[in-house]
Amino acid sequence: MALHESVLEEFGLAPMWVRRAVATQADEPLQSMREDARDERRAEPEPPPSHEPTRASADVPAPPTFDAAPDDDFAWFDDRDAPAPEPVEARRDPPALPAIHTLDWDALAERVAGCEACRLCEKRTNTVFGVGDRGADWMLIGEAPGENEDRQGEPFVGQAGKLLDNMLRSLALARGTNVYIANVIKCRPPGNRNPQPDELARCEPYLKRQVSLVKPKLIVALGRFAAQSLLKTEASISSLRGRVHAYEGVPVIVTYHPAYLLRSLPDKAKAWADLCLARETWLANGGAPSKESK
Ligand code: URA
Repeated sequence: MALHESVLEEFGLAPMWVRRAVATQADEPLQSMREDARDERRAEPEPPPSHEPTRASADVPAPPTFDAAPDDDFAWFDDRDAPAPEPVEARRDPPALPAIHTLDWDALAERVAGCEACRLCEKRTNTVFGVGDRGADWMLIGEAPGENEDRQGEPFVGQAGKLLDNMLRSLALARGTNVYIANVIKCRPPGNRNPQPDELARCEPYLKRQVSLVKPKLIVALGRFAAQSLLKTEASISSLRGRVHAYEGVPVIVTYHPAYLLRSLPDKAKAWADLCLARETWLANGGAPSKESK
């Protein structure tokens, strides 16, 4: 077989008369597959008679008619066995997801990890769900992940986190021991910009559910943003400090954000006063110090 014919044959493009003329012993298995395919089609109704001139014999090659209707005896071009396209009206929206307030811990963590409810999902490396004792008395709530938190997927892991750990130690507490830490926003705002109101609205149900699952005896709001979003106010942090507020029935104490305290040493004393008020409030709300912390 000449090279150009064998190439045509390989791709099933040779007109039937060429293939018949050049069939050899070596081609037989291929030939018999084609014949099987033809036999199957023979069982189908005969097409209506054609007015094309008939070929006298398969051995008398007719000139190739490359603009003729394609010879359709190639099973791999035949889509009759392909599944029919789904009718448009049969397509359904994906099933609605269960409401966030009904989720358990694992389902909630999974929902947050896959959340695409706002634009913050586009630039994040990780969502930052929360960390610590899921049955804690104390819940500490910050603003949003920064660069380190975004990279590690855990809240307060940078310098501010170190200061926070020291503040907890001063109360005989530790991250993970009767303390749960979360943020109002679960994804890092690009460039640490302030979260936008719509981002806050999309994220709030996650924090609300975390609070209802932890059932803390006390919440400490860390910084202006956390305080204003939890308490739905625009009041300044200095006016919110020193009093007991409430979020979903849980007492809330407002204090400075640890990142701010890193830059403003004089306000550390005020933060210490806030933590003392937090401890009193916790005790008044049924908190019981562990033996080591008494
Ligand atoms: N600041 C926050 O408010 N939260 C973090 O997780 C880190 C920094």
